[in-house]
Amino acid sequence: MTELNQQEIVELINKLRKERNAVILVHNYQLGEVQDIGDYVGDSLGLSIEARDVECDVIVFCGVRFMAETAKILSPDKTVLLPVAEAGCPMADMATADQLRKLKQQHPDAVVVAYVNSTAEVKTEVDICCTSANAAKIVASIPEDKEVIFLPDKNLGANVARDLGRKLLLWPGFCPSHMRISKEMINQRKEEFPEAVVIVHPECAPEVVEMADVSLSTGGMLKFAAETDAKQIIVGTELGIIHRLKKENPDKMFIPVSEQAICPNMKLIELHDVLNALENMETEIILTPEVIAKAKASIVKMIEIS
Ligand code: 13P
Ligand code: SF4
Repeated sequence: MTELNQQEIVELINKLRKERNAVILVHNYQLGEVQDIGDYVGDSLGLSIEARDVECDVIVFCGVRFMAETAKILSPDKTVLLPVAEAGCPMADMATADQLRKLKQQHPDAVVVAYVNSTAEVKTEVDICCTSANAAKIVASIPEDKEVIFLPDKNLGANVARDLGRKLLLWPGFCPSHMRISKEMINQRKEEFPEAVVIVHPECAPEVVEMADVSLSTGGMLKFAAETDAKQIIVGTELGIIHRLKKENPDKMFIPVSEQAICPNMKLIELHDVLNALENMETEIILTPEVIAKAKASIVKMIEIS
């Protein structure tokens, strides 16, 4: 069989997208060519809401597994496909439901807040979810006298705790890609571009976030970039976001803090995988009705408060 070129693959995807009544949801860290075919491109919160509200039979989720699971939990009647089954999130895998159950036994009165970067099974054990866009608001909604367990991202948790002046019981998870962004790298970029503003993701270590002008979700970064008067922006997050930042703001300069801030899992899905997903309806996200029902409550609660 002859190899298809990129345009031919996109044409086939578009044909099948119609035939299957499918929608392609894409996270901001995906490959540029995958972002370009998305019906909706966004951050975790935006993608969750879109997955819940969009009218279609099939969702092709170009992101990582926990995101596709969230889409399935919110839209159990739709077929949700993750084009590359191995696209996971190492941070999400740093917390298991068993480990959480043990911690809850030691803190029976604590409220459990889980970053959406967690497995569906973990979500069945939590009171409320959050994303990087709403973490502070979610934690602030919990009465001050309540102990809070925050998982799995110790950095996001510590950044929220500092912003709210509140003590949280932090799980020791982290994002390996954001941990590659250091204070020294920010200092170096600031020396090179003294006029630039610095935006970072709250998955970065607290000492990195403290050096930034602002810390935002990927969706928040896109909004900030569109609204700021600054012409140079130093960006401390996964490199995939640079594609959309440049595309939507051609008059501004975006400087990645580190070329090493790459999430290998976010780069697994290529255009031919999207085509394969639509052709062969794979890989389908399957969750039991019990997991869906239990996990859904914590995500719905989050969306209500957001
Ligand atoms: P947001 O896009 O929601 O900011 O989250 C980033 C992320 O962790 C994806 O893995
Ligand atoms: Fe997980 Fe970090 Fe990759 Fe996001 S960037 S999917 S948190 S490993």
